[in-house]
Amino acid sequence: MKNNLNNTRLGFGLMRLPKKLVRTDIDQVSDMVDLYMDAGFNYFDTAYVYPGSEKAIKQALFDRYPRESFTIASKLNAFMAPTEKAAKNQFNKSLERLGTNYFDFYLLHALMRNNYKRYDNFKIWDYLEDKKAQGKIRNLGFSFHSDPELLEQLLKEHPEIDFVQLQLNYADWDNPSVSSRANYEIARKYNKPIMVMEPIKGGKLANPPEKIKKLFTDYNPEASPASWALRFISSLDGVYTTLSGMSNTNQMVDNLNTMKNFKPLNEDEYLILREARKILGNTNNIECTSCRYCTENCPNNIPIPEIIKALNKHYDGQYQSAQEDYNEATSNTALASNCIECRQCENVCTQHLSITDYLKASVELFEN
Ligand SMILES: NC(=O)c1ccc[n+]([C@@H]2O[C@H](COP(=O)([O-])OP(=O)(O)OC[C@H]3O[C@@H](n4cnc5c(N)ncnc54)[C@H](OP(=O)(O)O)[C@@H]3O)[C@@H](O)[C@H]2O)c1
Ligand code: SF4
Ligand code: SF4
Repeated sequence: MKNNLNNTRLGFGLMRLPKKLVRTDIDQVSDMVDLYMDAGFNYFDTAYVYPGSEKAIKQALFDRYPRESFTIASKLNAFMAPTEKAAKNQFNKSLERLGTNYFDFYLLHALMRNNYKRYDNFKIWDYLEDKKAQGKIRNLGFSFHSDPELLEQLLKEHPEIDFVQLQLNYADWDNPSVSSRANYEIARKYNKPIMVMEPIKGGKLANPPEKIKKLFTDYNPEASPASWALRFISSLDGVYTTLSGMSNTNQMVDNLNTMKNFKPLNEDEYLILREARKILGNTNNIECTSCRYCTENCPNNIPIPEIIKALNKHYDGQYQSAQEDYNEATSNTALASNCIECRQCENVCTQHLSITDYLKASVELFEN
């Protein structure tokens, strides 16, 4: 890997930045950047399609720190681009938004079975190889949300790739729709450094069911549930960085505490996480990680992750609070019943969820 900086154990994911009303809270992001840089870490992960993210990190980081004191990763998303030209334009647009002339890490974004051919058809692999040859990309990789067979196929077809970004967390280790373990093993087989995304499952593992919280606090009352999730990932061989999309200063402080004084899991702790996984397997929670990829192109602006959150509360038996959450989520936007079943959301869902079925269930539960 081409990187002169070495402390990358914790990566700062820039997909869930704090907001002040509807705008990104630049002051808070700057404070988070300062805490993160002071702790000696240096890996930032953004993307062309994360709303406002590149612009915010320019202000909070690029305008305030020497360019060589940190590394930046961004991504090209061909699936959300209407044409080949528009897809390729994302590269220069991201450089421009960040005010830089190179990326330390650059990725083909969110490859899955239903979109990877678009990257071939648009000749994105060659386009980015060319940018690498020009020195505008130091390390080229792709992020991935699909099955191990496709991961192996892509790594065979593209030996030039320097790294992969995978969705790994303890809860999905053996979950067949995420395949954390199987994908991890393929990346190791091809000797590719791994950037990990969604290690806390988009926040779900920071607030697990009470039974799991008790398991954790009985063993160590000081450690947050988030720290268990981060330590599971960071204990794996071959992980270059564990990206966490921290969305406020307290989360940054907690995660820095875990990763600065990092201790790999011991045998007892592995057993506790195995128990936790069993408990999670017995819930009928819908596995939405609130990544919001689905809302980008919904023609009716349906607040899908918020509706699913309300549905999960309902399934947990919190009926009143679920109804209130549904009403609030839909008060200024669209209702679940406004869905026209175009399925654009399902085509990009990183967890491969049957979103339209959940919306139909929500209509029954919350609108009737
Ligand atoms: N390339 C791709 O396809 C792709 C897809 C997904 C993500 N990513 C990248 O990977 C990064 C990491 O993924 P992620 O954002 O899903 O990471 P994550 O760490 O699994 O989830 C982040 C969320 O976890 C919660 N959290 C984190 N630390 C916490 C703490 N100490 N205490 C309590 N809650 C805590 C927060 O949820 P609340 O805000 O709800 O409190 C936060 O928004 C993203 O930011 C993005 O840069 C890439
Ligand atoms: S299927 Fe429904 S929720 Fe999904 S993008 Fe289309 S209208 Fe929006
Ligand atoms: S429904 Fe899928 S794409 Fe939408 S926020 Fe949830 S996990 Fe992400």
